[in-house]
Amino acid sequence: MDTRLINHATRPHELSALDKTTIAKTWQQYYEDCGCGLWGFSPSPTAKILSKAILDSNPRRSERVEIVDWGCGYGRDSLYFLELGFDVIGIDLSEKAIALAREAYKKRQASGIPLFGSASFHAGDMCSVLKSRVGQKVGAFFSNRVLHLLAEADFCDAARNAISYLERGACFCVSGRSPNDFDAAQMEWIPGRENEVARYKDPARTGHDIAFVTKQRLRRTVGHYLENMHYLSAAEPERVGAPDTQLLILLGRKPQTNPCGLANA
Ligand SMILES: C[S@@+](CC[C@H](N)C(=O)[O-])C[C@H]1O[C@@H](n2cnc3c(N)ncnc32)[C@H](O)[C@@H]1O
Repeated sequence: MDTRLINHATRPHELSALDKTTIAKTWQQYYEDCGCGLWGFSPSPTAKILSKAILDSNPRRSERVEIVDWGCGYGRDSLYFLELGFDVIGIDLSEKAIALAREAYKKRQASGIPLFGSASFHAGDMCSVLKSRVGQKVGAFFSNRVLHLLAEADFCDAARNAISYLERGACFCVSGRSPNDFDAAQMEWIPGRENEVARYKDPARTGHDIAFVTKQRLRRTVGHYLENMHYLSAAEPERVGAPDTQLLILLGRKPQTNPCGLANA
């Protein structure tokens, strides 16, 4: 594990279950146990929404668009973007997920089905990946079902950083589990964080806490840096064969003028 990911300085009021080390361990285990069987290779509703927004705003496909897929897992949405002709930078905390994504990409390249875009997959921290591409901006930021895993401060840092690496006018499209997804049969609110953070009652799922994503939370975090913000709802199975989870999706754009308060914008 990359030691840079170990967040020893986690704010004392945050739950340890929402720190990066715990999240990385939990997901590493999921990918080791289930591999690409977690969700299969169908694209998520969020990926379809982002693709449509990009294609509708650039129907002649005059320029290449590079999408950052943050928390890409084993790359089911990254592969969908590639098939549509976008380039992809996939980033995930889990080394196993990234190994699976690279393998799936290679297999797809070898299958003879034309892939119009190109991809790179990176295990680790988004900022170090984007910082290493000196002077290059990206054409869209995408993240499906990651935000509810993050502590509030990590969510803010990541979202603001992501926007600072976007080209002006680029799409920002993220999803996370919405409070409609709270299921009292399986979950309970964490005392002091009612209606915000829940945990599973099943002790086997200790450390899988959910920081539900609301419009208010998104507005508070990125509202100052985006325009044309639209909220959509979608559902997709928690994993193959499991009941649906309810997602809140935000689609917005980085303004053409420099958003104030963003370093590197
Ligand atoms: C529910 S999965 C979604 C995977 C993928 N987006 C999809 O929909 O197929 C959440 C993913 O977010 C990753 N993740 C969580 N926190 C992260 C962080 N701070 N940076 C990068 N990836 C993260 C996990 O390792 C996991 O692969």
